Amino acid sequence: MLQTIIARFSTLNIPALLTSAVGAALVIFLLQRLTNPLRHLPGPEISRWTNLLYDYYWLTGQIPYYVHSLHEKYGPIVRTSPGRVDICDAAAVKEIHKIHTKFLKPKFYRDLVPGNIHTMFTTTDPGFHASRRRLLASPISDSSLSHLEPQITSRVLYAIERITEEMESRGAADVFKWWLFMATDIIGELSFGESFRMLEAGTPTQYSKDLEKISSMQPIRTTFPGLVKLGAYIPIPPFSTSAAAGKRIGMYAYQSIQRYKNHLAANPANPTSTLFTKIFDVEKSGLSDADIRSEAQGYIVAGSDTTAVTLTYLVYSVCRDPRIRTRLVQELSALPEPVSDRDLRNAPYLNNVITETLRLYSAVPFGMPRAVPAEGAQFNGYFLPGGSTVSTQSYSLHRDPGIFPEPESFKPERWENTTKEMKDVSLPFGGGSRICIGMHLARVELRLATALFFPEIPRGAYLHQGRDE
Ligand code: HEM
Repeated sequence: MLQTIIARFSTLNIPALLTSAVGAALVIFLLQRLTNPLRHLPGPEISRWTNLLYDYYWLTGQIPYYVHSLHEKYGPIVRTSPGRVDICDAAAVKEIHKIHTKFLKPKFYRDLVPGNIHTMFTTTDPGFHASRRRLLASPISDSSLSHLEPQITSRVLYAIERITEEMESRGAADVFKWWLFMATDIIGELSFGESFRMLEAGTPTQYSKDLEKISSMQPIRTTFPGLVKLGAYIPIPPFSTSAAAGKRIGMYAYQSIQRYKNHLAANPANPTSTLFTKIFDVEKSGLSDADIRSEAQGYIVAGSDTTAVTLTYLVYSVCRDPRIRTRLVQELSALPEPVSDRDLRNAPYLNNVITETLRLYSAVPFGMPRAVPAEGAQFNGYFLPGGSTVSTQSYSLHRDPGIFPEPESFKPERWENTTKEMKDVSLPFGGGSRICIGMHLARVELRLATALFFPEIPRGAYLHQGRDE
């Protein structure tokens, strides 16, 4: 049998076969590209033929700038790759990111997080999403968070203490590092009942290194999902190191859940409250330990660097402008002691500083992709067929000069007269049914960290010589 196959194979003209296969592939490629339904959309010629350039900018972290440059050249709607379009327009934002939208999250989100886990964040199924979100929303809602304020405040104060220590010992502080440790410790504590103690450690732990690996691998995971899956079995770095980091993060989460369950069993009447305490009963919630573990991991990945990046840009923007800093500190100094989030919510300048940071330095600046529904959709005079991908990137929306004059300037005052248009195009936390579930928590952290940081840090710190005064 084997000999017959080998004999037949040896009679084949392999070079001719290969040439025909390459020729056929080329014809299919040309046909697909020439008949691409997005070919009439404005955009660079290369985006009709290949996504190579788009992938290059995505992999090198430059995608928001690239897409923005396309908007500047081609207008509000641009084809960014053969199957993908970005729109910089309030009406598109409203349609795509509304409650019960037909524009669903694509597979991209499953590839974003290691382990192909099915969570509220990664799911592409609206039914699954709605039921998960119903269960998880209440404990992290604005009203429920007030009883977690002492835990958050204590972590914020500790972060500021560590920043001050570093300032005193070496004359400068790595604020991003400390905000990242703080945000990770907070979300760890609120999810599992105990923090990861990163602030205590002060240097990157295996856990923080794994988290960083997971975040930095996101572009690679979404561009080469097949290779990443292979990396779990075959040692091809960096895919295998990312898979190993994902496994370790899963294991820590498992151990933390076990510890919290022991704590629940030992203190049934008065357990430490977490964002998941009420859903630990599988009978009532329908969520297994593995489900809770995955959701908690999702919170940690989605809620750590986003908060840290925002706070770092906020510190940077306020410190480099003495006028803004003075006004902020004046407002904060007039607030009653001790600082409470209830008072901070009513501090207008503080909230404008935060909103302006979220506008200019959105932590998710690229277009969150959505699949166009099967029947297709019409935007800005163009028809987008079902299955193509559409996005509305906040980097460009937040820089529309018609809505935000002098868009590159950090001006908290612009929010003193917030217009409907400003609200309509503001997407720092996404929108509609998939809006960030952690945005209330993020805002509490941002308010407390800003309010406790500025009056505490000596004036002049973090400023380059000659920049201030
Ligand atoms: C300043 C901080 C934050 C920013 C800028 C931010 C931004 C965003 C954005 C833009 C989305 C929408 C993603 C999309 O539609 O593709 C999102 C979703 C999400 N965020 Fe945040 N986030 C922040 C903090 C947090 C925190 C602290 C948590 C932790 C609980 C969190 C958990 C999530 C989850 C679970 C989703 C998915 C929600 C869903 O699909 O229903 N985020 N975030």
